[in-house]
Amino acid sequence: MLYARSPLLATRGLVTKPHVRHQWCRFYSQPFTSGDTVIIRPANDHTDNFHLSKPLDSSGGIVNTRNGPINHDQIIGRHAREIITNSKGASFRLLQASLPEYVVLTKRLVTPIYPAHANLIASLLDIHASSAEEHISDQKLEILEAGTGHGALSLYLARAIHAANPSPPPLTPWKKATPPRKKATLDVPETTADPTPETKEPPEDAVESASNEDDTTLKAYKSTRSAILHTLDISARHSKHARSIVRNFRRGIYYSNVDFHVGDVSDFLATQARSKPWLSAVILDMPSANLRIPVLAKQMLPDAKLLIFNPSVTQIAECVQIIGQQKLPFFLERVIELPLGPNGGREWDVRVARIRKPAGEVATEEKGSGLLGWLGRLFGQKRVNEIVERQETAFVCRPKAGDRIPVGGFVGVWTRKRDNEGQ
Ligand SMILES: C[S@@+](CC[C@H](N)C(=O)[O-])C[C@H]1O[C@@H](n2cnc3c(N)ncnc32)[C@H](O)[C@@H]1O
Repeated sequence: MLYARSPLLATRGLVTKPHVRHQWCRFYSQPFTSGDTVIIRPANDHTDNFHLSKPLDSSGGIVNTRNGPINHDQIIGRHAREIITNSKGASFRLLQASLPEYVVLTKRLVTPIYPAHANLIASLLDIHASSAEEHISDQKLEILEAGTGHGALSLYLARAIHAANPSPPPLTPWKKATPPRKKATLDVPETTADPTPETKEPPEDAVESASNEDDTTLKAYKSTRSAILHTLDISARHSKHARSIVRNFRRGIYYSNVDFHVGDVSDFLATQARSKPWLSAVILDMPSANLRIPVLAKQMLPDAKLLIFNPSVTQIAECVQIIGQQKLPFFLERVIELPLGPNGGREWDVRVARIRKPAGEVATEEKGSGLLGWLGRLFGQKRVNEIVERQETAFVCRPKAGDRIPVGGFVGVWTRKRDNEGQ
């Protein structure tokens, strides 16, 4: 039996259509159609020698492989795992791209957060989205992400909040945008890594007419959402590309959960002009993230999460420092090292510690924890002795266990304190 998730939506006729109930099925049981992206692998090759197609385009789209071209027309109408043969007699297997594969294989202008890291970061937000009729308050779940970059983390965050929203109306079918005219200046991508050797168009050509959708079909729906990801980038070009990345994943399944904005954090917050705190979470993956923390505090709800992703632990330390110096209302939950491998992260100890005069030989407020030994290895024993002598403060910045060299980046997780909460 069909049902409306909320009376409000039912009266607007937004959720009682047949497409609502088994929306997930269409990606697993239906043939590929225009706008889908498809992994193409040589039929008898189980190595990583594969391509991700651009959104399938029945009007002349081509995938160029080492073994000759494949027309998009040959793929449209086929199912996942089917084998096709191109004009040169080479056989290829067609596969559905998973979210991690899609994130890694899509053309990029900036380096995305890797799938394992994005997954971990999304789970650190501890979101438990439920359907609209189960909501216990009118408070929307609004998340701010800066910068949008490739849209990789945006996809994981949009997936995390998806269940809180009513089913969106069908999106306008994908259509290829007219290629932009060549610019006079060189636009050099932040990364040259390009795992998809399709050369027909520059990446931004894949941007569909998303702004039209925002103006018409999606507008009424958007006001009914319980959970929204606001994603913000200073670069209009990055934002536009990320929009196409989110729009073209699985026929835009998560697209309507996301609002794309261009600008800096402070400007964006100023345009919101909200009288009360409204953000349930903030994720910063951008340069000088520490400098944005002061403007965020007033906009964040009590218990809201602040996650900051940085390539180095000292940048996380700068965040710890500014929060301490300006007495900002954030409680540091944890600092995690994100390794390059596919599995979780390692916890780090990051804080400012007062180094006390030893009671006996050498001691600190961390007596017995090995802090002085660690500082000695970092700065040399002479400098450590000076710190101890002057009772200075010093940064504690070390893995909670072991001595491994850090790789892959760090994420700091803070919680916004209640206004009357102590230190
Ligand atoms: C490393 S990328 C983010 C990658 C993204 N998290 C992902 O998963 O795809 C960093 C982005 O921050 C943006 N950026 C730089 N300064 C910014 C600012 N002041 N405000 C907003 N975004 C900014 C850059 O344009 C760039 O797109």
